[in-house]
Amino acid sequence: MQVITHIKGLVQVLPASVPCVKGKDMQELEVLGDAYLLFDQGRILDFGSMETWKAKAQDYAGVEEIDATGRFVFPTFCDSHTHIVYAGSREIEYNDKIRGLSYEEIAKRGGGILNSVDRLRNSSEDELFDSAWERLQTMCAYGTGAVEIKSGYGLDLENELKMLRVIARLKQKSPMTIRANFLGAHAVPREYIGRQTEYVDLIVREMIPAVAAEKLADFVDVFCDQGFFTVEDTERILEAGAKYGLRPKIHANELAASGGIQVGVKYKALSVDHLEHVGPAEIEALKDSGTMPTVLPGAAFFLGMPLSPVRTMMEAGLPVALASDFNPGSSPSGNMQFVMSLGCVRYRMYPEEVVHATTINTAYAMGVEAELGSISKGKKANFFITKRIPTYEYMPYSYGDNKVESVFIEGVRRV
Ligand code: NIG
Ligand code: FE
Repeated sequence: MQVITHIKGLVQVLPASVPCVKGKDMQELEVLGDAYLLFDQGRILDFGSMETWKAKAQDYAGVEEIDATGRFVFPTFCDSHTHIVYAGSREIEYNDKIRGLSYEEIAKRGGGILNSVDRLRNSSEDELFDSAWERLQTMCAYGTGAVEIKSGYGLDLENELKMLRVIARLKQKSPMTIRANFLGAHAVPREYIGRQTEYVDLIVREMIPAVAAEKLADFVDVFCDQGFFTVEDTERILEAGAKYGLRPKIHANELAASGGIQVGVKYKALSVDHLEHVGPAEIEALKDSGTMPTVLPGAAFFLGMPLSPVRTMMEAGLPVALASDFNPGSSPSGNMQFVMSLGCVRYRMYPEEVVHATTINTAYAMGVEAELGSISKGKKANFFITKRIPTYEYMPYSYGDNKVESVFIEGVRRV
């Protein structure tokens, strides 16, 4: 049993029964001043003011104490949208974009999803595991305790299974909470260009049954957008996934009002992600849907895309989640502290809102809200202690720096 004492602010205290925080409620954040946090066997046992702790400390003789004077404690971030299993990197594409090369030129010179596919197909499972493991450690050091990871750089049966097996190994080895998402429909692979429907047939008839037979995925994803997969393709894939209990979490409305949000809601998606193109019809579809609107500020920042209308969605009473989209093409960073800063600076979200958006709402978007996403009795003891900082608002304000000093996952200090 351990106790953190003299916590300057214990942030994001919620009843364990709250599945997510919506609309105006996102402006309220419970922060307990001068607090303690007691945990045992990987779970949060109790918390409260130091006054209360002083009164009960004698009942807990021998409990190990960690003094957090001047420091805040937050629940670890849940990063509900990532592509961290990949081979190589794509700074060539970054460089080319800065210099104004066209999409075709960039693809020819080594950019784009299909170039990551070539590299992944030429990599061994061990190589992929090692590089993804390193990314996971860095994410943890920045305060992330739960991660959803997608396949989608294999785009054939063998290589999609290879990616998903890497994710399964990460799940097994890491104490972090990990969920796997099968994204066979990330792009049409080179060998199927011009034959998109046949590729969708392959996903539906061969890939999904094989993935399900090995129990390698928790979710199914489709890049439902202009120039990628259509609403009809998406329906076929989500229906096939549903037969095996794979809940959708999909890429939608990044490049156009693709119908992706509506189809996601129709198939009870846990989340629809990106959402640069959202209007009244999309907002109406999301109301009371159980589908978490998830925005990826890192990708919009990195690609210079239009901003998702986050304030309008919250004003309509919707919840909003923010995830990193860590991937080699559009968001080569899994730093959720920076995601918070982008939420505040670019989307004009309040510090309180970005805390909800990166903890409880992303926990919901990966189906782990009963275990993670807040400081609540009985939830996993996944939290971080900050460096000495003046206020909780300092977290998004001081962008770029790592303000996290130590990270506890299931009650054990990992960083
Ligand atoms: O989420 N939008 C689709 N896919 C990724 C980009 C992947 C890549 O460029 O490698 C995304 O941003
Ligand atoms: Fe993505």
